[in-house]
Parts: sequence; structure tokens; C-alpha cells
Amino acid sequence: MLSDAQIPPDVSAGGAPDDQLGRPLRSLRVSVTDRCNLRCNYCMPQENYVWLPRKEILTFGEIAHLVEVFTTLGVENVRLTGGEPLVRRELATLVRMLAENPRIRDLALTTNGILFSEQAEELRDAGLHRVTLSLDTLRPERFLALTGRDMHAQVLAGIEAARRAGFQKLKIDTVVLRGTNDDELADLIEFGRRLGAEVRFIEYMDVGGATEWSHDQVFTRADMLDRLGKRYGTITPLEENSSAPAVRFTLPDGTVFGIIASTTTPFCRTCDRSRLTADGLWYLCLYAQSGIDFRQMLRAGASPEELAARIASAWRGRTDRGAELRASERHRGAFVGIEQLRQNPHLEMHTRGG
Ligand code: GTP
Ligand code: 5AD
Ligand code: SF4
Repeated sequence: MLSDAQIPPDVSAGGAPDDQLGRPLRSLRVSVTDRCNLRCNYCMPQENYVWLPRKEILTFGEIAHLVEVFTTLGVENVRLTGGEPLVRRELATLVRMLAENPRIRDLALTTNGILFSEQAEELRDAGLHRVTLSLDTLRPERFLALTGRDMHAQVLAGIEAARRAGFQKLKIDTVVLRGTNDDELADLIEFGRRLGAEVRFIEYMDVGGATEWSHDQVFTRADMLDRLGKRYGTITPLEENSSAPAVRFTLPDGTVFGIIASTTTPFCRTCDRSRLTADGLWYLCLYAQSGIDFRQMLRAGASPEELAARIASAWRGRTDRGAELRASERHRGAFVGIEQLRQNPHLEMHTRGG
């Protein structure tokens, strides 16, 4: 644990300065691996990818050390992502290390659920606070078509294991694709209700990696509300003041669900998040073209003070609002072409964390 004396004077009082748009640094998404055991066509439609070299992947000790520095600067929400984070061996060991850091108020995991049933209790015992599981369909044959893998049953078992292990505030994330799963919104809401989980519908985003993205496949928030309104009657938005991407709604019977409308209604103005890749690059935005290499700094022996100063100065200069800029483009196609992705895998969503 860093002592207050190790934190540079200009940041020790209130953490990192706000960025150029007045946004604080509160959230860090840590990708622990770029690998994944599914091939969802909105994220990793190819079978083969250029993977990050193993020797460049941060050790758990390096991750925990960097996270520690980030938390001295105001980060209090840490989310482990991938690729698929559970593909990284012994993830509970990292969770245990992070859970010892009292500055982390929310320690969460985003997973596709396939390996979750084997690890749910171990992760809970290691100190994981929350888990969000991805589930795009309740139909096994659709799952196979969407992900390229016949593993729907494992995902459902993973979700059930999360419930049984007693994780609170369970969330289920569904990317909604027009013509693929937009007819399952109500079924997924019912599924979440039975389980005590909050379902969030996500608009299909043109992030790096989504090489098959097209505007006509985006099932918008307005489309979702229209479809659900016809089925359930009046849908009421919850009045909330938060930096979270999901806007939450209630059905007439009180069931709450969320919509993440990053494509049509970006939340950049309140975005307090940043991303660390498995090889230690720090990105200030999901859509950023380049990141800051903390692996090199760390392995060259940079002190916590030097790391903190670099973070604070980069955050101070941050102007990113990638999703907003994308939304203002007239002719929108895939964000990054496949050739460019092959040359620079850091532009992939699965490298910088879903
Ligand atoms: P909670 O604290 O559980 O609410 O986490 P969260 O709201 O960050 O949700 P989660 O990590 O599950 O992310 C849900 C989805 O929101 C992602 O899979 C993305 O589709 C989208 N999303 C997450 N982070 C970003 C971001 O930095 N920018 C944009 N534009 N979209 C994001
Ligand atoms: N659009 C929206 N969300 C995406 N994710 C990955 N690719 C996309 C995309 N193109 C998110 C989903 C998924 C998580 C792993 O990453 O929420 O559940
Ligand atoms: Fe934040 Fe960039 Fe996503 Fe906008 S696009 S919400 S600035 S990460």
C-alpha cells in the first residue's frame, strides 16, 4: 500500500485533476487478457487474431501495483474485463490482491459466463463484489449462430452459479442486434426477473473489432422502448444522477431494466472511465487511437510518484468524447478496417476491454 508521503503533493489532496471537460477520474477497466472463448459477431467475428505477446502481459503483481497507484488518484471503481477475463488462469488470486485495497469501493467483473460456474465461489471468497454476465439470447441455436460456439448451457449454468453464490446486484448485458435478437427483449426481462438480475440492453456499437457493424443493424433505445411499451404499457425512466452508461426504466409492475444507448445517445459528457490493457497500455477512451505505455515505465523501474504524475497529467489534458464524435458522423460504417486491426490489435474492443 502506498503511503500518503509517496503520492505527489499536487495530487494527494483530491486525486487526479478533472479533465478538460470537467470529468473526474473514478473508474478503471482492467483487461486481464485479450483472449476469448467465444467469437461474438459484434465483437470478434474472425476466428483468428493477432494476440498480444505473452511476455508483454502484465503479471498480477504489476496490475495490482498500477491499480494501487490509480486508486491514490481517485479511482474507486475497478472492473475486470477481457477478452474473457476468466480465461486468465487463477483470476481469483488477482481479485484477492485487489480486494485488499480499501480505496476500491466497487470491484466488479464482466464475463461471458462460460467458465463462471467453476469459479463463482472462489471469486466471491476472494472478495469480488459484483458480476455482470453477458447473455444475448435464450435460444441455444441462436447463441451458436451469434458466437460460433455451442456453449449456451454453460452460460446459463454460470448465471445460475452467480445467483447461488449470493452475488448482489447481478446484471445481465444484452447487445441487441436488429433482426437477430430484438424479438427477445421481453423474454430476457422475464428471465432477469426470475433470477433477481437487472437486464441491460446495449445498442450495437461501432467499436474497433465490430467489423460487421452497419447502421441498419442498430436497434436503438427508441426502438426498444417502443417494442417494450407495446408489450407492457407505460415505461417510466428513473430519475438518477450518475456517470453510469445505463439509463434505467421501470415497467408498470416495478421491474427495473437498463438501456445503454452509446450509439445514439453517448454518455461522454459524464464519462469518468479509462482502460488498462492486459499489456499495460492506458486508454482514456474506448475510441482512442493510442494509449500510454505503463508496462514500459513500470519495467524500467518508475516509482509510484512518477506513475502517478504521468496519470494525473494525461488525465488533466483529456478531451476525449469518442462516441459523441462517432455519432456526429454522417456516413458511419465500421470504425476500423480489418487490415488496420491486424496491424494494431490495440484498436480491438477485446484488447481494450468490453
Ligand atoms: P456497472 O457499474 O455494472 O453499471 O458497469 P457499466 O455500466 O460500466 O457496465 P459494463 O461494464 O457491463 O458495460 C456495459 C456496456 O456498456 C459495455 O459492454 C459497452 O457496450 C458499454 N460501455 C462500457 N464502457 C464504455 C465506454 O467507456 N464507452 C462507451 N461508449 N460505452 C461503454
Ligand atoms: N457493441 C456493443 N457492446 C459490445 N461489446 C462488445 N462489442 C460490442 C459492440 N460492438 C460489449 C458487450 C459484451 C461485452 C463483452 O462487450 O456488452 O457483452
Ligand atoms: Fe467515455 Fe470515450 Fe466511451 Fe465517450 S466514447 S463514454 S469518452 S470512453
